[in-house]
Amino acid sequence: TLTDSEKSAVVALWSKIAPQTSALGAEALERLFTGFPQTKTYFSHFDLSHGSADIQKHGGKVLSALGEAAKNMDNLSALSDLHAYNLRVDPGNFKLLSHTILVTLAVHFPSEFDASTHAAWDKFLAEVSSVLTSKYR
Ligand code: HEM
Repeated sequence: TLTDSEKSAVVALWSKIAPQTSALGAEALERLFTGFPQTKTYFSHFDLSHGSADIQKHGGKVLSALGEAAKNMDNLSALSDLHAYNLRVDPGNFKLLSHTILVTLAVHFPSEFDASTHAAWDKFLAEVSSVLTSKYR
């Protein structure tokens, strides 16, 4: 679990992310699909062209869910069911998406994304991923 100072670092950067969840989420997804094209198989029903409405909308959902998780990890319970039972996303993909989210945040918030904020977000995303993949076992 995150320490109080890690939690503050996550929440502080979240306040910058919140006004632009769709754009930042879309960028993280596009980085995922470009860098790790095998992940596109889960989204074969999406329009995956650059800047598509599907990608914008889904990016917004993913980052908003992170905002809810930053408030309280318990908010991920339904999403955990969805990813484990319905979507059956291979757990390894969560590391890939976490990476492209970190890259996106680093690019957009170079001064806020210092070493301790990077470390806190890395730990936060690993925790979210762990909750979203916990029901596979
Ligand atoms: C759906 C969040 C990781 C594949 C969703 C939804 C959210 C979400 C909020 C929408 C749920 C709804 O509409 O009720 C997250 C978060 C993740 C994560 C916070 C980790 C940080 C992944 C990964 C994959 C994935 C790694 C696969 C590479 C999907 C798919 C859907 C979905 C295929 C359904 C899309 C649709 O048909 O609308 N996710 N997700 N997710 N997620 Fe994830």
